[in-house]
Amino acid sequence: MKPTQEQKAFVEDLLSRMTLEEKIGQMNQESPSIVGGFDVPFHELIEMLTDGRISQEEFGKIMANAKQDYHEDDIRAGLVGSMMVKEPRENNRLQKIAVEESRLGIPLIIGFDVIHGFRSVFPIAIAEACSFDDDLFEVTAHMAARESRAHGINWNFAPMIDAARDSRWGRVSEGPGEDPLLGSRFARAKIRGLQNDHSSLLNYVAACTKHYVAYGACESGRDYNTTSMSVSNLYNVYLPAFRAAMDEGAATVMAAFNDLNGVPCTVNKWLLRDVLKGEFGLDGFVVSDANAIRECVIHGIAEDDRDAGVEAALAGMDMDMGTHIYKDYLKAEVEKGTVPPEVIDEAVRRILFVKVWLGLFDNPYVPEELIEAYEKGLPKEHVALCRRAAEESMVLLKNESVILPLDRKQKISLVGTLADDRNEVCGAWAMAWKPEDCVSIRAGLEAAGANVSYYPCGGPEGELNEEEIASACAEGDVIVAVVGETDAMSGEASSKADISLPGKQRVLLEKLLASGKPVVTVLMNGRPLALGWEAEHLPAILEAWHLGIRMGDAVAAALLGDVNPSGKLSSSFPAVTGQCPVYYNHPSTGRPGSKSKFTSRYLDAPWEALYPFGYGLSYTGFAYDDLQIHKIGKCLEITVRVRNTGERTGTEIAQLYTQDVSASLVRPVKELKDYRRIELKPGEEKKVIFVLPLDSLGFYDNEGKYRLEDGLFRFFVGGSSRDCMMKELRIKF
Ligand code: BGC
Repeated sequence: MKPTQEQKAFVEDLLSRMTLEEKIGQMNQESPSIVGGFDVPFHELIEMLTDGRISQEEFGKIMANAKQDYHEDDIRAGLVGSMMVKEPRENNRLQKIAVEESRLGIPLIIGFDVIHGFRSVFPIAIAEACSFDDDLFEVTAHMAARESRAHGINWNFAPMIDAARDSRWGRVSEGPGEDPLLGSRFARAKIRGLQNDHSSLLNYVAACTKHYVAYGACESGRDYNTTSMSVSNLYNVYLPAFRAAMDEGAATVMAAFNDLNGVPCTVNKWLLRDVLKGEFGLDGFVVSDANAIRECVIHGIAEDDRDAGVEAALAGMDMDMGTHIYKDYLKAEVEKGTVPPEVIDEAVRRILFVKVWLGLFDNPYVPEELIEAYEKGLPKEHVALCRRAAEESMVLLKNESVILPLDRKQKISLVGTLADDRNEVCGAWAMAWKPEDCVSIRAGLEAAGANVSYYPCGGPEGELNEEEIASACAEGDVIVAVVGETDAMSGEASSKADISLPGKQRVLLEKLLASGKPVVTVLMNGRPLALGWEAEHLPAILEAWHLGIRMGDAVAAALLGDVNPSGKLSSSFPAVTGQCPVYYNHPSTGRPGSKSKFTSRYLDAPWEALYPFGYGLSYTGFAYDDLQIHKIGKCLEITVRVRNTGERTGTEIAQLYTQDVSASLVRPVKELKDYRRIELKPGEEKKVIFVLPLDSLGFYDNEGKYRLEDGLFRFFVGGSSRDCMMKELRIKF
C-alpha cells in the first residue's frame, strides 16, 4: 500500500490547510462514553461490578438511565480522527458530522475489534490456525472485511498475531499459536483478505496487526505483565509475523501494553521508529492500545499524563486510543518546543494516507440498502464459510479402539451444560453475533439426525447433578461429554494459574467413565488445556475449541463421520500446568530431557508436551516414505511420498521442519519451514514437493542481523512436530 504521487499531493494539500488543533485531532481516537445515571467514571463502574461492590441488577438499573456520548461536538470541531462504534446508522451519522459539519470535512476512520469474524463468527484464531489452510485464513478475513464495512467499520483491530507459548495467558485464544512460520503465513493471508479486494470501497478495510510486540511472552502468562528477552529471540520468534504483515502491506499496527526489556512498547522509539517504520517499512500508522499512553505513568516511565504523551509522540506513536492525552497536552508541548511540529505532521500524514487509501474521502457512508440486507439475516454463503472453517479447525487428539465416528443408530447421551448453550460457541472477542445464527452441539446433533438425549449434568462452573449423571449413564449406548471453558475464561484479562479442566468437570468425567459405557469427550475451550489425566483415562478426545456460529453442525458432522477431522495443533498441550511455557521449537539444551536424572526434566511431570505442535489424528491413517532432498539453484527441493493407509478419504497436513545442527547461537531443536494440505482417497498416494529457498535457513543474531551459516542441517518431514522422517545435508551458502 505505497502512497501514489496523487495521494501524497492530496494529503500534503490537506495538511497545509490544517490548524495544529486539527492535526492533533486526527491523532485522537474516541469511543462513545457512557454518561449520566452515576457519579463515577464508567471504567470504575465496571470495576465495581467486577469486584462485587455493585450487583449485576444494580449495574443494569444504572445502565438503563445512562446515555452514550458520541463526542459530536469534538467531531464537528475537527478534534477527533477516529471512533470505535459498531452500529452502522450511528457510524453514518457520525461520518456525516465529520464530513459535512467540520471545517475541512475529513472523514473518520472507524475501528472495531473484528477478530474472528463480525456477525459471521469463525473459529477463534488459535483454532482456525489448526487448519493450516492459508486459503481459509484469507477468505474468512475477506468476509469479515465485507461485513465490517457494511456496518460502517473501515478499520479492523486484527489480525492478532502474537506468538504465544504459555497457555496460562488467556489471549492465546486470539492468535495463531506458538510458531513463527505458521503465524507469519496466517498474518499474510489475513492482511490479503482484509485489505486487497478493491473492486468496491465496501470490500476492504485497513488491518491493524497487534499487539506489537512480544505481548505473548508476558512473564508467568499473566496478562499485561513484563517481558524480557534477547534481541535474537525477539527477531526469530516474536517479530516474524509482524515483518510478514508489513511485507504484505498491513495498513496499521497496534502497540502492545507490555514493556519490553524495560521500555513499554507504547513509548519504545526503537521498536516503533527504527524497527517498524524503518526496517519493516510501515506506510500507515501506529495506534496505542486502550489507555496505554496513560498507563506509562503507572509503569513508572513517565511522571504524569503530559510526560507520557510527549514520550509517546516522540517515540512514533501516531494515534492515542482513548486517553485524550494528545488532545489535552500536545498543542502546548509543540508550542513550547518539546515536541517538534514535524513529529505531528508525520503522524497526521500517515493517518490521512490510510483514510485516502480506504476511499473514505470518496464515500464514507454505508448504503441504507446494505444495512437493511444484513438486518434480514446472514447470506447463505456466509453461513457455509462459517461451517467450513469450523470443520477444518477441529483436532482429533485421541481415538482409542476407534470409538469415533459414531453410528447414527447409537443412542447418544449428550452431557455437559456447554453442549446446549448457543451463547458459548463464539468464544472470546466475538462482538456482533446474534443468538439466532448460533448452533449449539445439541442442536447440531439433532439437526444431523443423531439419536440423542440431553442431560446437562454440570459444566465449567457450579455443581454436578447426580441424578442427571445417573440417567445419562443408564440410557445411552455411548456418552458424549462436552467439557471445557466458557468464553469468558479466555481472551483478555483471563490468565489462569491452573489450566486443567475448570470446576468439577474432571469428577464428572470420572463418574461417566465409571458407568463402563464408552465416553467420547468434546473439548470446547479457548486455550490449550493441561490434559494429562484425560489423555490417560478417556478413550476419545475431540478438540473443538470455540468454533463460531456453526460449531454445533461441525462437531456433529465430525462425531458422526460426515467430516473426517484434519486439524493439527497450532499450540502444544502440556500434561500439567507447571510445564508452561511448553513449545516444540525450544533451543537445544546441553542436557536434553530424558529418563536420567541430571537432564532438563521434571521429577513429577513429563518434560515434553503431551500433544505437540502439529499433532492431530484422522479417521484414516497416513504413511510417509521416500524422503529425498535435491539442491536446485538457490533452493532445496524436498520430496516425500504420503499414502492414505485407511478406509476413508482424509486430509493430511504434511509438515517440513529443519534443524541447524551447529551454529554461532544455540538454535531450536526443530523449526517449521513449510506445510501442505493434501487430500487422499483410501489407498491413494501423492508426492509432496516442498521448495525451500536456501536463504530461509538463516537466523537473526543479537544485533538483529540475519546470518546464513554453512554447516550441517537436518530436514524432517511428517504429520506432526514429533513424528517425522529425517535426512541430513551439509550446506554451503
Ligand atoms: C485490547 C485490544 C483491543 C482494544 C480495543 C484492548 O483492551 O488489548 O486488543 O483492540 O482493547 O478494544
